[in-house]
Amino acid sequence: MARRKTILDFMKMKEEGEKVAWITAYDFPTASFAEQAGMDMILVGDSLGMVVKGYKGTIPVTMDDCIAHCQDVRRGAPNVFCVGDMPFGSYQCSTDKAVENAVRFLKEADMDSIKLEGGVRVADKIKAISEAGIVVFGHIGLTPQSSGQLGGFKAQGMTVDSARDLIKDAIAVEEAGARALLLEAVPPELTEYITGKLEIPVYSIGAGLPCDGQLLICGDMLGMFQAFTPKFVKKYANVAEVEINAFKEYVKDVKESKFPEDEHVYHIKDSMEDFQKLFKEFE
Ligand code: KIV
Repeated sequence: MARRKTILDFMKMKEEGEKVAWITAYDFPTASFAEQAGMDMILVGDSLGMVVKGYKGTIPVTMDDCIAHCQDVRRGAPNVFCVGDMPFGSYQCSTDKAVENAVRFLKEADMDSIKLEGGVRVADKIKAISEAGIVVFGHIGLTPQSSGQLGGFKAQGMTVDSARDLIKDAIAVEEAGARALLLEAVPPELTEYITGKLEIPVYSIGAGLPCDGQLLICGDMLGMFQAFTPKFVKKYANVAEVEINAFKEYVKDVKESKFPEDEHVYHIKDSMEDFQKLFKEFE
């Protein structure tokens, strides 16, 4: 079993040009499968609100939701570097609150790092959490928690003005002490520039190839999340189809009394005569 990587391993991988593969996970089995598959890291994303809980977005997700799912993931993947995602409202109000909530991910759920959304405007929070000794991942571009301000789940950085703001955000995130940056839904030309400009690893979710690694949401890449599929997703499986077909077959078997079969039942150890005598006792 591979040992749990640290942020220093990810710095070294960047230097040596080795790409990092990570996915989101929210539960024990998915985390365990990811560890068995050799995943470099796992994000316990607040996307759990949409993928697991069926919300329309990530806004309703609470700290307690995130901590509970981080604990489940840690039990499933004890040897994988895990990033806990700070939900909306858990870091915006004050630096003290941001540090207090970031600490919970490490103390209560054994996370290796936390991630929060935003650039220049959350630089003070990144600085405070980093100074508390916690590895911080920044996240800029399409930031789902502020999709209201962005006018929806929209790609960013496609015009010079928008790209300029994102470059300023990326620099602010690094200068504030973050140890990695996630770019979401931005064009590869901008990804390549930011990756070359920063010393910390830069990862993509929908930001193209020229960076230090790729993240996908497990519900998207496994074909489990049916509400919509972003352009940047490659579906590696169709788990929804597999599950629906299995459920349909089961319903049919039950209705037609084809399940359970002999191999699925427990067999009596005394004779049938003895059992009949027993049943008579109750008549
Ligand atoms: O919550 C999440 O899964 C995320 C990704 C969209 C990057 O933050």
